[in-house]
Amino acid sequence: MNKFVKLILAGVVVAAFALTACGGDSQPQAQKPAAKAPAPKAALVGDAAAGKTEYAQFCSACHGPDAKGLKGLGKDLTASDFVKKLSDEELLHYVIKGRAADDPLNTTGIPMPPKGGNPALTDQQIADIISYLRTFYK
Ligand code: HEC
Repeated sequence: MNKFVKLILAGVVVAAFALTACGGDSQPQAQKPAAKAPAPKAALVGDAAAGKTEYAQFCSACHGPDAKGLKGLGKDLTASDFVKKLSDEELLHYVIKGRAADDPLNTTGIPMPPKGGNPALTDQQIADIISYLRTFYK
């Protein structure tokens, strides 16, 4: 009986610790108002080969199988000054956020959905896709 209670207590302590650990982690980011786009912990290194597959899976429906864009859906990503200009990190944040149709920066009146409409997409997968897109600019 006593042992059982101890076990439960231990569980609660572990859970509480996990919660405060998470909270402590996200707080410094939230406290920095100057950094509008907080960087992920460490710079992600994208894998262009994996990115090619991921692009086909998650982005090609709108941007086309060759990334040259599809009329009325997504823009050409192989010859985009926007893609060329942005750093990998800025592009990562762009893809995470997307660009709504009423965004003043929107150029087509068609929305770019956050993460291409796939909330499950990880930062690593997006970094891979960005590495793949970079291969068009060499
Ligand atoms: C549902 C369709 C759709 C999907 C899926 C989609 N996009 Fe887009 N994307 C768009 C549209 C539409 C635009 C153009 C927005 C505008 O007019 O500014 C766009 C714009 C972009 C731009 C900016 C290009 C520029 O020159 O301004 C990038 C970069 C981009 N998408 C990357 C991606 C990536 C990476 C994926 C896959 C993870 C993806 N998109 C999936 C529709 C889509």
